[in-house]
Amino acid sequence: MITNTELEYKGNLYPNHIVEYIRDKDKFYFTTDNGVILEITVIQDRTIRFRYATEHTFQPDFSYAIDPDARRGYNRLDIVETKTEYIIETAKVQVLVDKKTLRTQISDLEGNIINEDELGFHWEENYEYGGNTVKMGKITQNSESYYGMGDKATHSNLKGKRVSNWVTDQYAYGKDQDPLYKAIPFYIGLHGGQAYGIFFDNSFKTHFDFAHERRNTTSYWADGGDMDYYFFYGPEMYKVVRAYTNLTGAPELPPLWALGYHQSKWSYFPESQVKELAQTFRDEKIPCDAIYLDIDYMDGFRCFTWDKTKFPDPKRMIAELEEDGFKTVIMIDPGIKIDKEYSVYQEALKNDYFCKRADGPNMKGKVWPGECNFPDFTNPEVREWWANLYKEFMVEMGVHAVWNDMNEPAVMEVPTKTAPLDTRHNYDGHPCSHRKAHNVYGMQMVRATYEGVKKYVYPKRPMVITRAAYAGTQRFSSTWTGDNVATWEHLWIANVQMQRMCMSGYSFVGSDIGGFAEQPNGELFARWIQIGIFHPFCRVHSSGDHGDQEPWSFGTEITDIVRKFIELRYQLLPYLYTMFWRYTREGRPMLQPIVCFDQKDTQTHFRTDEFIFGEQILVCPVQEPNAQGRRMYIPKGNWYNYWNDEMIGGGKEKWVVAGIDKIPMFIKAGAMIPKYPVQQYVGEKVIKELVLDVYYTKGAENSMVYEDANDGYAYENGKYSLRNFKLLGKEKELIIQQFKDGSFITTYETFKIQLHGLPFKIKSVEVDNEKVDLEAIKLNGDNSIEVFKDFTQLHITGE
Ligand code: NOJ
Repeated sequence: MITNTELEYKGNLYPNHIVEYIRDKDKFYFTTDNGVILEITVIQDRTIRFRYATEHTFQPDFSYAIDPDARRGYNRLDIVETKTEYIIETAKVQVLVDKKTLRTQISDLEGNIINEDELGFHWEENYEYGGNTVKMGKITQNSESYYGMGDKATHSNLKGKRVSNWVTDQYAYGKDQDPLYKAIPFYIGLHGGQAYGIFFDNSFKTHFDFAHERRNTTSYWADGGDMDYYFFYGPEMYKVVRAYTNLTGAPELPPLWALGYHQSKWSYFPESQVKELAQTFRDEKIPCDAIYLDIDYMDGFRCFTWDKTKFPDPKRMIAELEEDGFKTVIMIDPGIKIDKEYSVYQEALKNDYFCKRADGPNMKGKVWPGECNFPDFTNPEVREWWANLYKEFMVEMGVHAVWNDMNEPAVMEVPTKTAPLDTRHNYDGHPCSHRKAHNVYGMQMVRATYEGVKKYVYPKRPMVITRAAYAGTQRFSSTWTGDNVATWEHLWIANVQMQRMCMSGYSFVGSDIGGFAEQPNGELFARWIQIGIFHPFCRVHSSGDHGDQEPWSFGTEITDIVRKFIELRYQLLPYLYTMFWRYTREGRPMLQPIVCFDQKDTQTHFRTDEFIFGEQILVCPVQEPNAQGRRMYIPKGNWYNYWNDEMIGGGKEKWVVAGIDKIPMFIKAGAMIPKYPVQQYVGEKVIKELVLDVYYTKGAENSMVYEDANDGYAYENGKYSLRNFKLLGKEKELIIQQFKDGSFITTYETFKIQLHGLPFKIKSVEVDNEKVDLEAIKLNGDNSIEVFKDFTQLHITGE
């Protein structure tokens, strides 16, 4: 046991005994004799905020991460005082504050300890910059596991690791390299079957040690700011993510085309090349919804300009592409070229919008156009100006979406790869240095972009992509995992990163499919597409200097496989869209590692490869060359192999056959998976029939399908169609009930129900208690039937 004296000797300072306690509605203040104040705020029954001041002084209470619309409110809140402690109790947890040390302990209402201070809050004064290095020490519980933390390219279970958060342009990063492009200081702890989360809301560089330095300690600290963290009680993991997402926000529904397949390269130009690319997609019959223009469309890399030799008439080109079903996405970077002839530069200069160094000059750094200045996106006036810059692109030229890159901000030819730390920022009226603003800079840039795009594409929905992100950026933008490499190891990394991001509240995420740096061979490309179609953001992007990376670049065998999987993505669009809707409404992670699916099964705690796409599809990528299949863990329940309808029981490892044209993929027994016909782009076809792939189970299972106009905002006024299905399977019976909500009328009139694994021969079918003629519902050999979409009960009996 380390004593306080020893630690003081190491330069750490500690709170001592409580001398005052005050309650103000949902806030509790505990003040110690040596001037530390602990403020505990009950946000919801399971969400509690802990904030510490030293010298009786809190920093202003301001955070970019917190969603202003986060729901608040609790069912119960009591406090009792004993001789040694204060005990705060909500309807979900109990928080104990020790009078002598200010240490806290959180337990469930049965008294099981969920999270507990070891050294608790302590700090070191920072002479050079002022303020403190603020630290928190927690006890690592028995067999505790750790998940979350954004884009860390390391084993999904973080136990034994130390990581930090400082958004960084990390070209061709490697496994275990840290930090990368995102700063999401949120983790999930799991022990004794119960999960909780900690979100350390501090935008300075933060550090987390998960039982790495000392086996029994988990600690986190920041280079400045306050010790300000939120605790979320599960006990289910998804509820932890939900509570975190409630606090930091979810995105609005994207337009459906944003969930289609996208093609990018650095860079497609001139216009003729873009047109040829588009044409090849249609000729090859490979679905595609969007084409990306990387920096070379600009005039000398000046943002908001066009190189008219490469793209003489962008408006016409974009319109022609749109006619063919393609959306055009353009890149915008934060660096503004220092060029007195350039209007964006002139405006920013005139209005004093650029970030300044400590002693006054504008902050300067090299990016693609050479020397640049950088708008201070933490200034609300700058954000408004930036948003308005999109008008011409979106309104006059018809650009559909915007991709923000290099917004860490990345600066070339300097060892830190970013702005100097003395750079000043407005921070929405809380002036500070880059030490505090660095991690939110890209977030505020893309926030401004989002505001602009949203304003100018209205009444359509915005689509924005960012590279850098701090916690909460998911409210504004989708993201990708930056400059990866075309290697098998990176395929593994992409899989882990996507699951981790989803568990960190950031589900709209994808990787550069096939790898950004270097060139994949056909096999790697095909395997990457196979997993990429299950990632919420599905885009091929590459650096373009190693050869082509289009679906047809690797010979016909690979092209056929790639086509088949992109087609599958388009078939699954209603399923994916429903997942997205649940993410926006309920904060459900769109991908779940299997530990989230069954946290009680300790076999799942250290698995990295298997994940659940939505709630009912289990996927496990093949991640090595020349494989004919792989071993994988099947979690609890019964699952149908998607490729041959063979059913297997979970709770065990299994060899699964998957040659180059397959990915191990299973459907949960009882699931009803909605499918659209293959389209070359979203909206190509009027949907005449919704396929429902129904996988028989003995017992009950719920499924749902959410649909709307696929764009626009009518859904917010009730114009959506939500179908909840309850399936009940018995020995010789299958009952499906439907509960409908919303006033959107879908274009199709019928469901084509395809029954899988039915253990009996159909004898009779009743729709809403009326027997129907088997011929009328087109019962045929493959066990499919056609029924009117608005039935309330379908009753199938067998013999
Ligand atoms: C870096 C980005 O990560 C990459 O995707 C892009 O192609 C290049 N910048 C060029 O804009």
